[in-house]
Parts: sequence; C-alpha cells; structure tokens
Amino acid sequence: MGHHPLHYLDCSATTPMAAEVQAAMQRCQQEAWGNPSSLHGFGLVAAEQLERQRQRLAALLGCASGRVVFTSGGTESIHLALLGSCPDARSGSRLVITGVEHPATLAAAELRRRSGWQVAHLPVDRRGLVDPERLRPLLAPPTALVSVIWGQSEVGTLQPLQAIGSLCREAGIPLHVDAVQVVGHKPIDFDALPVDALSLTAHKLQGPRGIGALLLRDGVALAPLLGGGGQEGGLRAGTEPVDLVTGLVEAVALSHRRLESHGGRDPITPLRDRLLQRLLAHPGLQLTGVDPREQPAARLPHHISLLVRDPLGQPLPGRALVHQLWRQGFAVSSGSACSSGEQRPSPTLLAMGYDSAEAQAGLRISLGPWHGDALLDQLPEAIDRVLASPGF
Ligand SMILES: Cc1ncc(COP(=O)(O)O)c(C=O)c1O
Repeated sequence: MGHHPLHYLDCSATTPMAAEVQAAMQRCQQEAWGNPSSLHGFGLVAAEQLERQRQRLAALLGCASGRVVFTSGGTESIHLALLGSCPDARSGSRLVITGVEHPATLAAAELRRRSGWQVAHLPVDRRGLVDPERLRPLLAPPTALVSVIWGQSEVGTLQPLQAIGSLCREAGIPLHVDAVQVVGHKPIDFDALPVDALSLTAHKLQGPRGIGALLLRDGVALAPLLGGGGQEGGLRAGTEPVDLVTGLVEAVALSHRRLESHGGRDPITPLRDRLLQRLLAHPGLQLTGVDPREQPAARLPHHISLLVRDPLGQPLPGRALVHQLWRQGFAVSSGSACSSGEQRPSPTLLAMGYDSAEAQAGLRISLGPWHGDALLDQLPEAIDRVLASPGF
C-alpha cells in the first residue's frame, strides 16, 4: 500500500464491528453460551439473554406491538417475508416489487413466480424513485403482496414509504420493506410505519455478519421456510445464535444513541454533503440517484454514488476505478457488492434509464460514523490522480 493510509469507504457493503459490539458478544459467549431450548440453568441463562435482547430490539425500533423474528441476515429475512407471507393465497396472485430491488428480493420473487405467482415491477425515474401513483392501479386483484426496497444500496435512493404504505393500507395489501440500508441511519418507529414486515441485517451498522431480523406486524400470517425445533415461535427453526443476536442489538443501540443525540439525523450527513460538493467539482464525476442538496430526505445520509466519465464524456468502467482507487488506499465499490463479481451493466442504473456503458460506470462511496474531514481533500485528490493516469 506504500505510504497511503487505508480508507474504508464501502459501508453499504459491510462495516467493521464496533468495539462495544465485540465486547457485548464476548460477554455473551462467556456467560450465555447454552442452548436456549435446554431446560437446565445453562439453557435458561441463554433463553433469558435471547428474550432480553429481543425486547430491547423491539423497544429500539418501536416494535412494541409486533414480533421480532431473528434470521441469518437480510437475504433470509427477505425470503421469509416474500415466500412465507400470504400462505393461503391462490396461484396466480401478484407480487409487486420495484425496478431497483436487491438481488435477494429478485431471487425470492423468482421463487414465488415459479410457484405460480405473477411478479410486477414498479418503474423508477432517473433518480431511482417510484411514483406512488403508478402503484395505485397495481394494487387491484390479483395483487396479494408488495415489497419495496426503502434505501437503495447502489444509488442511495430512499423511497416515499409513507405514500406507498398508505396506498397499500387503503387497498388492504400487506407491505414488506427491505430496510437493510436504512437501519442505523434513520430512526425506525415500526409501529408508526404503514408496513407489515421489515427486514434488517446487523453487518451494515457495525454489527456481526450472519444475523438479521424480520419485524412483523401482529396478525400477519406467515409460514416458516425452515422447520425443525420450533424456535422463533415456529417461524424460523434452528438453535438461536444468542451471541450474534446480542451483537445485532448492541449495534442497533449504538446507532440509536448516535441518532438520538443528533436530533434523529445521522451526524455523517454534513461530511457526506461536503465530500459530494468537492467530488462534483471534477468534470468527470456525475451524481446518480437523488441530489441530497435538493431532497435530503430522499437519499441515504452516508451514501454517494457517481458515474465516471473520461474527458470526452465517455463512461469509464467502474470496476477498473475501484482497483485503481484501492492502489491509492481507498476501498470503494462499483455498485452493489453482490453484483460486482462480473463486469456487466448494473440492473439498477439500467432501470433508471442509463445506457449499458453508463450502467457499468458506477462508483459508490459509503461512509461510516468514524470518518472525518481528512477525506475531503484526500479522496478527490486520489480520484484526480487515477483519472489523470495513463490508461484512464
Ligand atoms: C438493500 C439490501 N437488501 C438486502 C441485502 C442482503 O443482506 P445480507 O447480506 O445480510 O443477506 C443487502 C446487502 O447487501 C442490501 O444492501
């Protein structure tokens, strides 16, 4: 790495665990390692820890009247919501999703399609926003379920959840929301949201990988995907990873305190805005998604996404830029981690109306709470160096 300091700017992919999270997990591993289903004292200690953490999470996320089901993460929560919901729906029912979903939702929707459902995609505009008015006609029969990505991982767009949820409520259609990118960056008051199920994962907010939750409105019918020991109220079998649960809840508590002490706003926002301002001064960089200087409430507060072009305006391959920036000490992403294994246009950017070359020129910078002003000069300078180097 030469003399460059390392800068991790890929927090929408994952985050390093916070020290407080690690400490809480370690305590749990020492004290509550038993099987929560065991009837002896070791089991009871683990069961008590698990239920204490469940109640703590429900309180932190305003889920007093709902249920918390622990899962292995966002992907599983989404599958449980999309495949377990409406267990009695007839074949031919319709699932409505947006045109900018995470691959986990696309995969679950495809499984529902193979089981006889129809899947409709709600279009988005150039900023990645859905128009709730276009949802209205899609709520007629045979629609049985709607699922919306609240915070888009690649372009940072926050969908108008209140408007979408109100329409679903009016039509009596259950709504699942993928809040994986949102939790930790916005206060969540589940009971006040017009949604029936909400997916989250710990590793996007300095918690451990491999643990997430599905929040469920009381009365929502759900069939389990995994059967066995009957854990999680019969909705998700498997011995509960009490230490991971503890890490998840500690991470949510940490972010909750951070948001509370800043009036409910993510304190990284001003740094993100200044960094964006600096980056957009470069003629080769163009913002994708919502401009937070115009609509701050419609973009994830820690998120910047760009298209990169050469001096002639031709899109440059995002993946090559990611490699070059890493050589300068910066860890960034060319899009969502899950689809960046191969060079292909981003389905998200295509859905937003970009052409195929543009849809390969995405660059994502996502910040964590530890970032400071040093980035403001260092990152734009590194991007300048990369774009000015031969071959670019
Ligand atoms: C919006 C969104 N949904 C779902 C997921 C999947 O979460 P997990 O990695 O915990 O399975 C991710 C993570 O990449 C995401 O960004």
